[in-house]
Amino acid sequence: MITYTKPPHPREYRLIFKNVDREGWDPSIDCYLRDGGYEDLKKAVTMQPKDITGEVKKSGLRGRGGAGFPTGMKWTFIPPTNTKPVYLICNCDESEPGTFKDRYIVHQDPHQLIEGMVISSFAVGAHIAYIYIREEFPQGAAILERAIEEAKTRNFVGKNILGTGFDLEIYVHRGAGAYICGEETGLIESLEGKRPYPRIKPPYFPAALGLYMCPTIVNNVESLCHVKHIIHMGGDQYASLGVPRNTGTRIVGVSGDVKNPGYFEIEVGKLTMGELLNDLCGGPKDGRTLKAVIPGGSSAKILRCDEVYTLKNPDGTSRQLSFWDIPLDFDTIAACGSMAGSGGVIVIDDTRKMSWVLNNLNAFYAHESCGQCTPCREGSTWMKKISDRLVAGEASPEDLETLESIAYQIDGKTVCAFGEASSWPVEAIIAKFRDELLAETSGAAAAHPHNPELIAQQRYLGTAS
Ligand SMILES: Cc1cc2nc3c(=O)[nH]c(=O)nc-3n(C[C@H](O)[C@H](O)[C@H](O)COP(=O)(O)O)c2cc1C
Ligand code: SF4
Repeated sequence: MITYTKPPHPREYRLIFKNVDREGWDPSIDCYLRDGGYEDLKKAVTMQPKDITGEVKKSGLRGRGGAGFPTGMKWTFIPPTNTKPVYLICNCDESEPGTFKDRYIVHQDPHQLIEGMVISSFAVGAHIAYIYIREEFPQGAAILERAIEEAKTRNFVGKNILGTGFDLEIYVHRGAGAYICGEETGLIESLEGKRPYPRIKPPYFPAALGLYMCPTIVNNVESLCHVKHIIHMGGDQYASLGVPRNTGTRIVGVSGDVKNPGYFEIEVGKLTMGELLNDLCGGPKDGRTLKAVIPGGSSAKILRCDEVYTLKNPDGTSRQLSFWDIPLDFDTIAACGSMAGSGGVIVIDDTRKMSWVLNNLNAFYAHESCGQCTPCREGSTWMKKISDRLVAGEASPEDLETLESIAYQIDGKTVCAFGEASSWPVEAIIAKFRDELLAETSGAAAAHPHNPELIAQQRYLGTAS
């Protein structure tokens, strides 16, 4: 029987995180092999590569890195007449604020990822694969390098893997610590040794024109781990987890104002927002009420906890759905005007001022814009300057209009999706909390307190005003 240092909630379904915080577990290959590790690779190499892709398509797996794009379909975008080398890249940048899942896999179960990568490389015909890991995970990079060496000694990586004639080298590449290196084309530029300026799509869809202008599959750490489980159970059985079009499990990382923040692996769409926040996370902190949630990493549009959505049914009729009843799947969260993104759920309670939340987000995007396109480079900094005034109590009501107008002029007009990532929080927070923000533009009532932790820190430092 598996026991954990932090037992999973009964509503969790542990597939990818089966070994995370497991008692007696360590990242070594010996431990992994004792638990049946690399058996799925042994099965996969007896299959035709196209059949592996077929199982992944059948499974319905959608990428866990942010966009939720179907993984099997992405793999089929490699041009059938291709004669160039194919590359596989594991996106281990985990840079989206509020997201903290890939690091646990890397730190505690690196062989699960390597096994998933070898199977995926075999399926897409890649003989060189990279793990692009963010600079801030030095321990993770060292663990992966060690794990790759271990896998090589057992012939799971390297030449003539398991006697099949299939060769694969996996390299760990450390980023330099920039959010934009998580965007797949920025990542590819960085891997090529250049400044990570994202490429424009079309034409630079990586599956056709990726690393060194060769077909390249970029997948998230968690997505690649799922491939191993799809081979283990078969695409159809995997697709029976979760709900139609939103299959399998996914890891949600909850941070912010709940009693019990942390990671939870759930069947996609089988839990509602209310169940996640109140049952798994223990509800709001004592004496507080929940105000808003950013459901899929900082780039996702904010949802108010008192919202009710009108959604279309397949038969053309409509239905009402409260925030608390939103099933945690890609499609419903999108229908409610936001996105499931990277699974990072950020919870905000009634002690937080939205001006502070907005300014916090603006500061991040202004800092992280790569600067390649003008609307994003200039606009993200302008938005931050205006929200600086808002939290200082120096903004006028017209400033809110300017802020909104800048956001709408960035949205949809930039080289990469960072433009939307920086403008959506502004658009949604102003649209949904206009009265609260307007009240802060009057001067007297403005600004304080932004958040209780900050006030406590300021008191400690003697900087509270
Ligand atoms: C600004 C920005 C940052 C991103 N950061 C990450 C990241 O840290 N990790 C990640 O897997 N995907 C990130 N993505 C999404 C990737 O571009 C890409 O869609 C993803 O790695 C594909 O993998 P998947 O299909 O398995 O989800 C980011 C996208 C954008 C626009
Ligand atoms: S949208 Fe922003 S981050 Fe993306 S390429 Fe343009 S300047 Fe860079």
